[in-house]
Parts: sequence; C-alpha cells; structure tokens
Amino acid sequence: KIPVWLDCDPGNDDVFAIILALFHPSFKLIGISTVHGNAPLSMTTHNTLALLDIVNVHNIKVYEGSQIPLVNPPKFAAEMHGHTGIGGATFPQVTYNQICQDMSYLEAMKQAIIKYEGNICLICTGTLTNVSKLITAYPEIKSKIKYVSIMGGGIKLGNVTEFAEFNFHTDPHAANHVIQELSSKIILSPLNLTHQVIATKQIRKRIYNARERTRNSSFREIFFGILTFYSEAYARKYGIIDGPPIHDPVAVYSLLPFNDENGEYGYKYLRRKIKVETEGDNEGESIIENDSDDKEGVFIGQKLDVDKFWNEMLDALDVAEKH
Ligand code: BDR
Ligand code: CA
Repeated sequence: KIPVWLDCDPGNDDVFAIILALFHPSFKLIGISTVHGNAPLSMTTHNTLALLDIVNVHNIKVYEGSQIPLVNPPKFAAEMHGHTGIGGATFPQVTYNQICQDMSYLEAMKQAIIKYEGNICLICTGTLTNVSKLITAYPEIKSKIKYVSIMGGGIKLGNVTEFAEFNFHTDPHAANHVIQELSSKIILSPLNLTHQVIATKQIRKRIYNARERTRNSSFREIFFGILTFYSEAYARKYGIIDGPPIHDPVAVYSLLPFNDENGEYGYKYLRRKIKVETEGDNEGESIIENDSDDKEGVFIGQKLDVDKFWNEMLDALDVAEKH
C-alpha cells in the first residue's frame, strides 16, 4: 500500500478525495491536515472530522493547519461549496472525532514523513499554505518524500480568473514556493485534467443506487446531495450542465500510475518546469516556463482512464458504506 498524507479543505470534492484515500485498497492513509480554502479553517476541519464519523473511521489523526494564506488575505468559495464548505448535506454539528492536539500539524507531518521515509506521498487538495510552511520549517524532509500529488492550477485555463485556478489563486505564494522547491516530485492535476472527470447524471445515479444496500440509504443521500449541490453550482456559475468536474480525488488517483508500473490507468503526462505568478493581474496563473521535456519539471497530468477512475471511486464508496 502507498502511505499517503492528505492535506485538504473540504469542500464538496475534497470529501471524495478523503473517501478514495481511506477506502481504495492501494492506499494507507497516515494522517490528515486541514487548511483554509473552500471555507474558513474551522469549517474545513469540522467537515473532515464529521466525514470520518459518517464513515465510522476513528483511527485517523486530524491536525488543523493554516488559517490564512502566506501573504494574501483569505478568500472562500461559498458560491461553489456553500457557507459551511459542504453544500447539499448537513453534517453533524457535534463530532466524535476530535482535532489532534498532541503536537502541531507541522510536527505531525514531519514525523509521518520520517517514519515512512522514501515511500510517503503527500496529497494536496487545497491551498498549499501548509506544505509551504512545512518545507520552510523542515527543509531536510524534502528528500524523504516520494511524490507530492497536487490538485491545482490550469494550463491556460482558470476557474477564478480566465487562467487562474482557485487553490493556486488563493495562495499563489505558497503554490509557487512548493512548486519551485519540490518540482521533480510533483504530480499535478490541473483543471485541464480534472475537467475530464465529470460527475455526470449517470454517475450521480450510480452513486445514489448502490449496487448492494447494506445500510440505511441516508448514507448514499449524503454523497448524492453533495454532488447535486455541486452540479447546480457549476451550472449556475459556469454554465456547465453535464455535471461538476470532481477535481480533488483525481489528485489521489493520479498516484496510482506512479506506484504501479504494470497497472493500466491510461495516464498521460507532460514534464515541464512551471511557475505560479504571485503578483499583478496574472496572480495565481500557472505558467509553463519552457515548453520542452525536463527531468526537473513537474509531471503535468493530461489524461486518465475516466471510466476506470469512476469504477474505483464508486467501489471506494461501497467499501465506505459497509464500513
Ligand atoms: C479546487 O478548488 C476547490 O474549490 C476545490 O475543492 C478544488 O480543490 C478546484 O479549483
Ligand atoms: Ca479542495
């Protein structure tokens, strides 16, 4: 199993990233850190704890991370994710799982990286504030991480401005810092890739009608409700009516082709040096610096087998339901 640490800001689509990291048989989830982003930090943390309750998981440590970006003021995405970060579902107000306070999130991430040195992969589905602070505090851990799989950016494609994507735009300084420092270990899932992974009406129906119902259908209603809300938000804001792109679990899934050489994932990438603009009108844009193959560059995901992705995502949800 691939040991992974998940840094996230749930967030409708982050919920599916957590499910995949927890219940796909190829991953061993070591811990979770939360970050500001889709909603204020207290809410992204609460949503994480509540989701773990919903899927009956009580052995994953959740650390609360950064409340604000490195330089810019925070901004949230209520239009896309609701004011709580999870539009379309009501998560319990009181959670059994609690924030882990035995050490700081930075210390916890460092210890996990040292424990699983050379194998551990970070998955980042929110802003990169936490990871930027981590490598500033403990630069020696960079060499111990195998890959950092990031949902963020877009190549000449944006969702906040014409060419800037939300995670990079919200903390461009952190995004650029992490990319410069960890370039050759980064697997990037930009919008160009995640926009191919749509939760269509057929997919949403499959989510609702579990193959085998083992528990009360209220479990299915939560995930169906989240995607219905997300789908309506995409239609309202971007006029996308096929269904919402389900960005964040793509960053989880994209680790598979890099850790299983014999697997058929239909995964294609380009390897390029990139940077993220931190100032001015182009703030948050990811720019390819030199459009030629570069061994020091980021792996930029281009394509994956979308049907296989959904089969495995829905399998993970089945496992979660039975858990
Ligand atoms: C990214 O921004 C957030 O709104 C989503 O959770 C995803 O991580 C997409 O741009
Ligand atoms: Ca996210």
